[in-house]
Amino acid sequence: MTSGVRHLVSIDDLSLAEIQALFEHAKRFSEDLRAWAHLCPGLISASLFYEPSTRTRLSFESAMQRLGGGVLTAAEMNSSSASKGESLADTVRVVGGSYADLIVLRHASEGAARLAAQYSPVPVINAGDGSHEHPTQTLCDLYNLWIERGRIDGIHVVLSGDLRYSRTIHSFVYALARFGANIVCVPLPGFELPAYVMQRLREEFGVEPTRADVSRLGELARECDAMYLTPQKPHQLSLFTDGKGLTLERVDALYMTRPQTERYTADELQRTRVVRLGKQELAAESLREAVVMHPLPRRDEISGDIDSDPRSIYFKQAARGVPIRMAILGVLLGRLDLGAPSSRIASSSYGVSRGGNPCANPSCISRTESRHVTPAYRLANRAPVRAYCWFCSQEIAHRLVGCSTTGIFHERDSSAARKIRPDHLVFLRDEAEALAQGFIPASRPTLTS
Ligand code: NCD
Repeated sequence: MTSGVRHLVSIDDLSLAEIQALFEHAKRFSEDLRAWAHLCPGLISASLFYEPSTRTRLSFESAMQRLGGGVLTAAEMNSSSASKGESLADTVRVVGGSYADLIVLRHASEGAARLAAQYSPVPVINAGDGSHEHPTQTLCDLYNLWIERGRIDGIHVVLSGDLRYSRTIHSFVYALARFGANIVCVPLPGFELPAYVMQRLREEFGVEPTRADVSRLGELARECDAMYLTPQKPHQLSLFTDGKGLTLERVDALYMTRPQTERYTADELQRTRVVRLGKQELAAESLREAVVMHPLPRRDEISGDIDSDPRSIYFKQAARGVPIRMAILGVLLGRLDLGAPSSRIASSSYGVSRGGNPCANPSCISRTESRHVTPAYRLANRAPVRAYCWFCSQEIAHRLVGCSTTGIFHERDSSAARKIRPDHLVFLRDEAEALAQGFIPASRPTLTS
């Protein structure tokens, strides 16, 4: 396993000051994209794409070439040695060994980039891991907001479509919350933000969810149970809450996403409906000054009749992916500085010391590549004990916890559970599992008369 190399696995890997510094670099690059070939000559990036891509891969490759570097591209990794059973861990060791100086990775398993970063000798950039995160799309989206609106704190961003499976949305909401933007979720029914994302927004970013009255969004929000997510507690907006929720007056950005049908169950495919943004919907009062964004590809959720509306910036948004990715590459290859000492989100991980893999997410890399993964978790809370898988970020379901040194198990919300050292914690679903793993119950206090 490698250490001391800087990777970009999650949007949490960058502090707000560093993100701001990336914007400044990107802005300088965008003044003349052809003037920077002296920055990375002789360096090579490798694109390892196990899932389809147009914009992300091509904009990264364009960015690398504009910096004077070279590119190795494996756009169909599923037809590479992976089809012969080679693990991701082995592939990145080989590619990062002498073939390339940096790896851009897209993979269907959640947490794949986290695993790759553990094994790769060179920086790994997460270009999308399942429905988990897509931090460089978020940097591109934030950069667009910064250019178009001049700031991110305090603005109102409406997120619409499939908020459940869109990895772009997950990285985006974490960053928007950190910047202090107000987020209004207008999901397709049944495709709301996942519970683990909401939990994290509340617990770590102090976000306050409130019901939103989005009648001013017109048709767009007709079937939605919309929600306002306001960062920083207590938020000024809460002064205006009257029990009916908050009324959305003015939107700064409307971010649309497509249904991520490739990840749906048969039942979800049946339930898929489309929200459609066209001329009529865009006429809604609150959208008068909103910019319309989309990570693309779009399907039917944005109709062509608004492409020429000056508020529709999705093609500009994609074009700005090149300068922002030039900045990301320059930094990770050690050719650009982010200046400000970083106060990134500190999070430690702990290996699971006993029992099987406690992560139940079937698309987590800890399950799909179990040979090379040591299950690990991040401790979010101690009372009750709450932990998230270190790879896919989903919550670990358990009612009891054991201590690997005493061999005793406890209820997760007991005071004894709170005192167990994180590296000694064992997650146990129920008593049967605890006993099967050789744990004994904590002795219950006896009643004395
Ligand atoms: C997104 C992705 O791949 O997650 N596209 C992109 O990177 N520009 C969005 C999507 O596929 O819907």
